[in-house]
Amino acid sequence: MRVGIIGTGSMGSVLIEAFIRSGAINPEQMLVTNRTIGKAELLADSYPGLQVARSNKEVASLTELLFICVKPQEFKPVIEEIQAHLSPSQLLVSITSPVLLRHLEDHLPCKIAKVIPSITNYVLSGVTLCIYSDRCTPEDKELLENVLSHISSPIRVSEQYTRISSDLSSCGPAFLAYFVQKFVEAAVEETGIAEEEATVLASEMLLGTGKLLTTGGFSPASLQKRVAVPGGITAEGLRLMEKELHGVFHDLIRATHAKYNEDVEKVESRLYGTKVD
Ligand SMILES: NC(=O)c1ccc[n+]([C@@H]2O[C@H](COP(=O)([O-])OP(=O)(O)OC[C@H]3O[C@@H](n4cnc5c(N)ncnc54)[C@H](OP(=O)(O)O)[C@@H]3O)[C@@H](O)[C@H]2O)c1
Repeated sequence: MRVGIIGTGSMGSVLIEAFIRSGAINPEQMLVTNRTIGKAELLADSYPGLQVARSNKEVASLTELLFICVKPQEFKPVIEEIQAHLSPSQLLVSITSPVLLRHLEDHLPCKIAKVIPSITNYVLSGVTLCIYSDRCTPEDKELLENVLSHISSPIRVSEQYTRISSDLSSCGPAFLAYFVQKFVEAAVEETGIAEEEATVLASEMLLGTGKLLTTGGFSPASLQKRVAVPGGITAEGLRLMEKELHGVFHDLIRATHAKYNEDVEKVESRLYGTKVD
């Protein structure tokens, strides 16, 4: 099976590198391209055997499984370039939440899926969200999830919950990194501890907490209860967070969804020339 990647920016290159390092796909099986071709060529320099195509239509014509890793506003020219070169047997995977399955089905003759990766896939961890159109067969789903399982835990979600699932799995690393950064900055400012030391402590804590919540048998609530003994120091910190952060996560989810709705509207006006319901 030949695998194509259009767009070797931040997430496209994470996928390429993770696929190769995990052994999911050999470099020789992969044909990649990018608008600024030098970026794809740099990757090929690092991974001997990785092939670079000069155009999107070449990738579309020559691959059975094709990942489109461009931003929502960059979709239209890509679709226009590849649509005549795709057939119903090919499986096209978009990694962009605001481009909906039906947008792609309206414009392309092939099978369509969406996969929302996460930067955590770079270290062969975290989840990839999988969303399938009705054109996909059980075999297509198995094939895709088999490839993705080398770099992540693939999890099927319905398109309705793509945005909130992405907030948790794909935006989440940035949100938690923000939390760590602020925690460390405050630690340095309040106590004078070295930033490097505080960062190691907080990052190792995050890794261990993730393990406790995935394989350690704890839920978020039971973990807090276990650590925060009544009247103790952790309980004091939790009490303050409960007071100060009340409502923040609701606001955060509303903000990401408002931006998502805006992006879907922009995609529709680009793809259909006008807004659609
Ligand atoms: N970053 C994340 O953690 C993450 C996680 C999950 C999903 N995503 C989704 O992944 C998508 C891409 O995000 P990103 O962070 O990877 O963006 P990015 O770094 O800007 O990468 C996009 C790449 O697409 C290339 N491109 C644009 N138009 C093209 C065209 N017509 N033909 C070929 N290549 C083209 C760009 O080329 P140039 O070099 O010329 O600009 C760029 O390298 C977004 O929709 C995002 O929502 C991202």
